Amino acid sequence: MFRRLALACAALLSVVSAQLTITSPGTNDWWVASSANTLSWTCSTSPYLNFTVLLSNSNIAVLAAPIAIIAIQENYDCSKTITQQQSAQAAGTGYTLLFANTLNSTDIWAQSQPFEIKALGSSYPTTTSSAGSASTGTASGTAGAAQSTHTGGTLAEYIPVGMSMVAALALGLVVA
Ligand SMILES: *[C@@H]1O[C@H](CO)[C@@H](O)[C@H](O)[C@H]1NC(C)=O
Ligand SMILES: *[C@@H]1O[C@H](CO)[C@@H](O)[C@H](O)[C@H]1NC(C)=O
Repeated sequence: MFRRLALACAALLSVVSAQLTITSPGTNDWWVASSANTLSWTCSTSPYLNFTVLLSNSNIAVLAAPIAIIAIQENYDCSKTITQQQSAQAAGTGYTLLFANTLNSTDIWAQSQPFEIKALGSSYPTTTSSAGSASTGTASGTAGAAQSTHTGGTLAEYIPVGMSMVAALALGLVVA
């Protein structure tokens, strides 16, 4: 029973991970204006072959509308160094990167965490390398798996040893 539950959880996790996610810039990351910056994404789980990369800001006074910084980005590159020209933006917070359909830039496939663009000359975040981003991705995946394992453990705690899941459900021991 629990094995089946665990398998169901694993299947759910793999469905969730079969998608395009922008891993860098992530939470606590920033870019430095008019400098080389790193962009990376989950290319191995991306259902898309290519996309347009846009830069957006939640404050329309900073950017009135998203601007395309890469017209066509091939998915297989997995990461990209953003050039000085592409990152020549006003320093500020509230920036997000959008990956969109190359044929329709309002069809958004992925959105990054909000991040800051710091003034030219600022230091880079310590985990700016793509290796660092990759390990961040792995860490969050592991955390997700650990979380589902924990849920299983919690269920087991409520169900007396030897009682079947069906019996436990009938007794209302499991909150469905
Ligand atoms: C982008 O991907 C689509 C399929 O999603 C493909 O038809 C198209 O040729 C690709 N464009 C480029 C420039 O690689
Ligand atoms: C572009 O994508 C948006 C969002 O998915 C959709 O509402 C719109 O109809 C699309 N436009 C065209 C011309 O396909």
